[in-house]
Amino acid sequence: MTPPRIEVHDSAEALATAVAGELLTRLADAQAGGAVPQIALTGGSIADAVHLELARLSGASEVDWSQVAVWWGDERFVEPASNDRNVRAAREAFLDQVDVDPAKIHPMPSTESAASVAEGAAAYGDELRVHGAGEFDVVMLGVGPDGHIASLFPGFPQLDVSDQIAVAVTDSPKPPPERISLTYSALNRSRSVWFLVSGEEKAHAVAQALAEGTDLHDIPAAGATGSEETIWFLDRESASGL
Ligand code: 6PG
Repeated sequence: MTPPRIEVHDSAEALATAVAGELLTRLADAQAGGAVPQIALTGGSIADAVHLELARLSGASEVDWSQVAVWWGDERFVEPASNDRNVRAAREAFLDQVDVDPAKIHPMPSTESAASVAEGAAAYGDELRVHGAGEFDVVMLGVGPDGHIASLFPGFPQLDVSDQIAVAVTDSPKPPPERISLTYSALNRSRSVWFLVSGEEKAHAVAQALAEGTDLHDIPAAGATGSEETIWFLDRESASGL
């Protein structure tokens, strides 16, 4: 396994600009090779900042957004109009401003499109099985102060699920309680896994996740790696424990 690359940026803003720039380069390179890149987005505050930078920088890039397939690593199982929806935040921040092909945008089910969170998780697994390319090019993951990634939380049973692509969470410690999350077996089917982490409150989780021998049941971020590359995009605060 290739050792993770660690990039430390001066601020959350510089971190967001670096991630957006790197992603646009990867997408353009993949398209130049004739591929339709598959990416998985994350939710959270640093993700919002990255998405705003994607909107700002895309115009000057070579990326043809109609030839990008967009998935999510996790989502809040609430009504589609809720401000809690990761897809809504991503649409408002950049997807509605770049020329995407609606058929290639794959939001996770909401309370309007699935009768239950379990049904929603199963449906998303089917959708990825049918319309996915078998692996992602880039999976982006925020990290919580407790070391959670996507909606995989410390000590939760979803950490040990290996026969499903997506799972339901009904008692998330981070509100709202009902969520759908990709499992490790899906998250790790990616050439690149990128962690986006800003803020001093994350420093302990980052240091633990990068420490030798850390158990993913304690720090779920320790369980995600790319098949070709794993990058930790940090700011000075989140890197302060290294
Ligand atoms: C979610 C996320 C979650 C998030 C982390 C970090 O839907 O809540 O996908 O995993 O990425 O909690 O969030 P912050 O960047 O806001 O701290």
